[in-house]
Amino acid sequence: MTSFQPKVLRYESVSSTNNEVAQLASRGAEEGTAVVADEQTAGRGRLQRTWTSPKGAGLYFSILLRPQISQDRWSLITFMAALAVSDALREACELETEIKWPNDLLASERKICGILAEVIETTRRAVVLGIGINLTSEAYPTELVGQAVSVAELATRPVEREEILAALLRALTLRYESLNEPDGAGRVIEEWMSRSSYGEGKLVRVTNGDEILTGITRGLEKDGALRLQLETGAIKTIRAGDVVQVRAERK
Ligand code: BTN
Repeated sequence: MTSFQPKVLRYESVSSTNNEVAQLASRGAEEGTAVVADEQTAGRGRLQRTWTSPKGAGLYFSILLRPQISQDRWSLITFMAALAVSDALREACELETEIKWPNDLLASERKICGILAEVIETTRRAVVLGIGINLTSEAYPTELVGQAVSVAELATRPVEREEILAALLRALTLRYESLNEPDGAGRVIEEWMSRSSYGEGKLVRVTNGDEILTGITRGLEKDGALRLQLETGAIKTIRAGDVVQVRAERK
């Protein structure tokens, strides 16, 4: 039985698809209301960053969710979304991706997709889930060459935005319904761990503002927080920040 049905509204240009969905939500939009835009003039990323969004270069997508799981697990929405994007890129473009904590999608070790979930207050508390996928190399600024990549650079055939969107809507529907089932939260953690080498045993550096920590990843907490084993052996729980793999120095 499918109860979650995304309904997509298309725009040429918006400030941010997340803003647009939040506005629709404040006017009573239903769960599943989604916005796709050709360009964003003020696209936002995690940690107050800008998400450059030139016309036609990316998939800029947001959707309104009213999760049924308890609010202390809503952080798992982005983990569920990362799995859905990973499913969609596999289905539509035969691209294999890996998830970097918390929810960056990497292909060939470079970022191909970013995810931003924002909690909003309407008559009921809700989530706006935003997803940006680089379709061409124009989607990311030149200073990110080497760290970012696009579908056009990696896929073995030209893939239309609409094909990726259709696959994303299918994958999100399945993944979101599964998250809302009993033990859905536990399943998201398990499946995230199976799609990411960042969950267990990876030497990483975590930067959060002025704080920089280095340690070995030791799994996820129930809400998706990263467990990091420091050199002292102590486990530190990370809830925000940027993670990069630390590679052993060559002699
Ligand atoms: C990140 O990796 O920092 C998250 C980037 C999220 C970008 C998407 S594009 C669609 C939606 N609208 C926004 O303004 N941001 C998200």
